Formats: sequence, C-alpha cells, structure tokens
Amino acid sequence: MHNASVAINVWDRWIRLFHWGLVIAVLVSFYTTKTSGAPFLFPIETHAQAGYAILGLLIFRWCWGLVGSVYARFKTFLYPLPHTINYANNLVKRQPHAYASHNPLGGWMVVVFLLSLSFQAISGLFLSDDIFFQAPLYGLFSEEVAGLLRTLHQLNSDLLIILIGLHLVGVIVHRLQGEPLLAAMLTGTKRFRQPPIDARSEPLSTATLRLRALAALFIGAGIALWLWYFGNSY
Ligand code: HEM
Ligand code: HEM
Repeated sequence: MHNASVAINVWDRWIRLFHWGLVIAVLVSFYTTKTSGAPFLFPIETHAQAGYAILGLLIFRWCWGLVGSVYARFKTFLYPLPHTINYANNLVKRQPHAYASHNPLGGWMVVVFLLSLSFQAISGLFLSDDIFFQAPLYGLFSEEVAGLLRTLHQLNSDLLIILIGLHLVGVIVHRLQGEPLLAAMLTGTKRFRQPPIDARSEPLSTATLRLRALAALFIGAGIALWLWYFGNSY
C-alpha cells in the first residue's frame, strides 16, 4: 500500500507563540474584570496589563501577516467570496479541500478575530473605572466619546466570547472530519496525503524571516512593555 504523506511546517514558532500567548492573556483579561464572587480578585490595573500584552501580541501579528512567513501572510489565506462560499459548500457536504494555511472560512474568521481583539485592546486605553483607575489615554476625548467607548468595550467583549465559542466549535468540527488542527498549532506541522491546494514554497530565507520576526517582536513588545511600566501611572 502506498502510504506516503507530505509534511508541511505551516505555523512557524512565532505564530504558535502568538497564539498560545494570546490564549493566556485573553483568559487573564476576562478573569480580571470580575469584581466579586471569584476565588481571586485582581485590581483593574492587572486587567489593563493583560490588555497591553494582547496589544503587543496583536501588533506583532498584524506585522507578521504583512511581512512574515508564507502561510502566516494575509495574502496567502484571504480568498475572494466565491472561493469562500465554494469551500463552505464542500465543508457542509463533508468533503472540504485541505489547506496548509487557514482555510477560506477560517481565514476570514481570523481577520474578524484580530479586528475585534484590536478594537478591544485599543478602546481599553481610553477607559476609566470611575474609581481610581484611568487608562493612559483617558481624558483625550470628551465624556460622551469616553462613555461610548466604554459601552463598545462591553459589547465587543460579548462579541469576543461568541468568536471564541465559534472558534472552538470550528476546531472540533475539523477534528471530527479528520483534520487535526490543534496538533498543528502545537507542533507547527500538518500532514497531507496529497499536496494541499495552497501549497507553496517560502520565498524568504530563514535569516531574513528571523530578522523580520525580531523587528516585529521588538515593536510589539516595546509598546506593550512601555504601557505596562508607564501606562498605569498618572
Ligand atoms: C483585549 C483585551 C481586553 C479584553 C478582552 C477586555 C475585556 C473587558 C471586559 C469583559 C470588561 C467588563 C465589561 C462589563 O462590565 O461588562 C472590561 C472592562 C474594563 N476594561 Fe477591558 N478588556 C481588554 C483590554 C483593556 C485595556 C487595555 C484596558 C485599559 C488600559 C481596559 C480597561 C477596562 C476598564 C477600565 C474596564 C471597566 C470599565 C467598565 O466599568 O465598564 N481593558 N474589559
Ligand atoms: C482565548 C481563546 C482563543 C483565542 C482568542 C484564539 C485566537 C486565535 C487566532 C487569532 C487564530 C489565528 C492564528 C493566526 O493565524 O494568527 C487562532 C488559530 C487557531 N486556534 Fe485559537 N484562539 C483561542 C483558543 C484556542 C483554543 C483553546 C484552541 C485549542 C483547542 C485553539 C486552537 C486553534 C487552532 C488549531 C488554530 C489554527 C486554525 C487553523 O488551522 O486554521 N484556539 N486562534
């Protein structure tokens, strides 16, 4: 029997670091909004610091989507609508094509996720808890705009919970259809019987990629650390 398979390293170490760092920071961020009833309570400053970490991770991811490794690029995994609908139809018929990078539905979902997370972290910078805490950009806008941002911070946090739920359902559906996506996000590697339809080779050298990753990391981590140390002082 012919059992050959192609192994592709789809998620570089940066994407994996981004993903699992994000999961931890988002969990901390939600947990630390609790003001009663939880076994451990944290000041809102801790919530803001988790938000700064998320902002740093997102800055890295937006850069990496533009200049990073081939499967991490937006250009690779964002498809026009007809292609996406076609993919969704095949998924319903339980015969989806396998993709190395995000599949067409997953790709758009990732963009919505990143936008919603970015809005959440940025809107947080303008908030106050009406007691002691004022975020670094609080006071930049009128009371009215600040109030609106606060409402949107609350509403968008509900949207995020829905997106996280859909995300987990998506990962489980693909698992049931035989695609072990979780393993790939842990190890970086996906195996295919035939080359996936988005298979391509990496045009950039390892050295170039490393330099770009470090530059993007430097910007993201720099902003997060700056906010972490100076953002909460007023
Ligand atoms: C992506 C990161 C973030 C997530 C997921 C998040 C989530 C939340 C949630 C769920 C709430 C409670 C909303 C409610 O009362 O219904 C909240 C409130 C709040 N967040 Fe964030 N947040 C994030 C980032 C930030 C950042 C960066 C800051 C400040 C620098 C911040 C400041 C606040 C403040 C001051 C409140 C209390 C405002 C209020 O009473 O509604 N958040 N956040
Ligand atoms: C707070 C919760 C989570 C958030 C905010 C989140 C967010 C994301 C984002 C933004 C991506 C896109 C990765 C990229 O290209 O940058 C992604 C992919 C992925 N996530 Fe999560 N995630 C969460 C929890 C989880 C959990 C608990 C699992 C494991 C069961 C998981 C498994 C995956 C997998 C397997 C992918 C790759 C999907 C694919 O191959 O297309 N995520 N996640």
